[in-house]
Amino acid sequence: MPTQRRILVTSALPYANGPLHLGHMLEQVQTDIWVRFQKSRGNSCLYVCADDAHGTAIMLAAQNENLTAEEYVNSIWRQHKQDSADFSIDFSVFHTTHSAENRKWSRRIYKRLKSNNDIISRKITQAYDPKEKLFLADRFIKGTCPKCKAEDQYGDNCEVCGATYNPADLINPISTISGETPIEKDSEHFFFRLKNYQTQLEKWIKSGTLQSQVANKLGEWIEMGLQDWDISRDAPYFGFEIPGTEDKFFYVWLDAPIGYIASFEHYCKQSELNFGEYWNEENQTELYHFIGKDIVNFHGLFWPAMLKSSGLRLPTGIFAHGFLTVNGAKMSKSRGTFIKASTYLKYLDSDYLRYYFAAKLNGSVDDIDLNLEDFIQRVNSDLVGKVVNIASRCSGFIEKTFENRLSKECGEETLIKDFICASENIAKLYEAREFNKAIRSVMDLADRANQYINDKKPWVLAKNTNELDEVHSICSVGINLFRILMIYLKPVLPKMSIEAETFLNCSLEWTNLENFLIDHDLNKFEPLMTRIDPKVVKMMIEESKVDDAPDRQSKESDNSIAIEDFSKIDIRIGEIVAAEQIENADKLLRLRINLGDLGERQILSAIRPHYSPEDLVGRLTLVIANLKPRKMRFGISEGMLLMTGDESQLYLLSPDSGARAGMPVN
Ligand code: MSP
Ligand code: ZN
Repeated sequence: MPTQRRILVTSALPYANGPLHLGHMLEQVQTDIWVRFQKSRGNSCLYVCADDAHGTAIMLAAQNENLTAEEYVNSIWRQHKQDSADFSIDFSVFHTTHSAENRKWSRRIYKRLKSNNDIISRKITQAYDPKEKLFLADRFIKGTCPKCKAEDQYGDNCEVCGATYNPADLINPISTISGETPIEKDSEHFFFRLKNYQTQLEKWIKSGTLQSQVANKLGEWIEMGLQDWDISRDAPYFGFEIPGTEDKFFYVWLDAPIGYIASFEHYCKQSELNFGEYWNEENQTELYHFIGKDIVNFHGLFWPAMLKSSGLRLPTGIFAHGFLTVNGAKMSKSRGTFIKASTYLKYLDSDYLRYYFAAKLNGSVDDIDLNLEDFIQRVNSDLVGKVVNIASRCSGFIEKTFENRLSKECGEETLIKDFICASENIAKLYEAREFNKAIRSVMDLADRANQYINDKKPWVLAKNTNELDEVHSICSVGINLFRILMIYLKPVLPKMSIEAETFLNCSLEWTNLENFLIDHDLNKFEPLMTRIDPKVVKMMIEESKVDDAPDRQSKESDNSIAIEDFSKIDIRIGEIVAAEQIENADKLLRLRINLGDLGERQILSAIRPHYSPEDLVGRLTLVIANLKPRKMRFGISEGMLLMTGDESQLYLLSPDSGARAGMPVN
């Protein structure tokens, strides 16, 4: 048995200024897969994350909502925590940088830097908003480009001609916060002398622990000369006050990575862990940061230098990834591809996306594209068509003919051995974060399992009572192959794995890979995963579209519509499978409607005064299936029932007998 590794893993701390989107999930999902993989191999692996709660943007966002900054970041923290949980992100702890532990560590580290003569102070001149009484970062200033005269350009560079400049060079600059013309003002700032760590950083970067693309980039920056880093901001600022000052705060990027340490300490308080074993210079533990490529300078230069100066350990590795694009382009609100985590979850299962990300991630900093058609196709053909298919093909016979008990021996030694032998290679690929190759290997095995069943044709043998033992054996082999595949996929598919464990009546552990299921009872097979309906993906995109065109009122008196207009409406037969009253809603009932192939929907319908819930269940009726989901006070409504009548009485429409749920109406 190899010795157990002790690993601490982080993903970047999301800013608490808005909801998580699928870009954030790309990072958390890949981290989580790696963490779950490590645990499944018997290692100890802790996963620490937190919200990054400080900075001007968050302060302004809170003001916008008429909340204190604390209230604001608390409410975002709850949302973030929920979204991550709903994607099965298994944090050991999800803390916040606005915490007592982080205040303590930020001060402590600052003092260590200071006593090492790594901090200097000097006066700088900056743009200042005289109305808001606020120093302005470049992105809060706009004006006319000094070079090409394009209007409405940000303070540091021109999007039209690409020029870079100082905000002071802009023509007619304004503060984007108040609209006032900024003035120039002096203020004293504190700087971290990164140069003091040049040699050590060079050595660390060349030590081979970083991805080569990242090491090269960092090397370039060092060659260009390391500048002093401004770690202070003037009041008003939402953050921690710098000790020994009254109106200076730590820049958010000083205390953000320290948040890794502070959140870990918070976790230690509720567990038996020894803090020092993870953060002291002398340690036998591993530390990895998963981050996006946009923040490698903070993690690859400032952060290791701060750690060095404070006498703390350096990361064992930094795992940088590329950006998520959707359908080949940057996520866009107008195209509906800026998809919030919570919007995704309203329509689709988190395991689908976890699988798709895994199938594409290759351990490099290349961008990852979520092509929605490819997404649907991959999930449907790989997971449903290949993996689940093995179990569903075999379970039928086992259940019907063999009382759900597997055979007393497991044959096909060579085939099973090949499945087991793939283990070390798949593990190596997971370890190297080449999840795409790991998935490819697993799917190759799934193909072989399906091929085996195709070749043996148990459905043919089953017709002959002499061959029943053979059928039993084939299907038992199939189930055992399925079990091995699910062990390999478990880090990627936590939800489906739980269902598979219930069905297989055993826990899926990499460490038990060779404990075959022999003479073993299964539980009833339930479909472990259903196909993605492309319509649902469309609905998700529609909901993600931010509509900034004002509602146009139609002045047309002619209200006839073309046949094309009518055919846009997808009317279906729906079966009411559940109906319940909603507290405090006088008119509404919450209905679950079965739409056949389209799956089940929740529809909130104003028929409570006219029907009692018991009378509705089991009825077939007409439903508009492609109505944009509407957020109502009591939840979302994903469609509409067609009814006739008026305020005083409403009547549900029913099809003639013979119609079935899901049938289109036209
Ligand atoms: N608060 C900082 C990180 C501090 S870590 C000490 C931050 N926050 S962020 O919310 O902007 O981003 C959090 C993480 O999500 C970063 O690693 C970032 O690269 C990643 N992503 C944000 N948008 C992304 C995509 N569109 N695609 C992939 N990752 C993205 O940076
Ligand atoms: Zn320009």
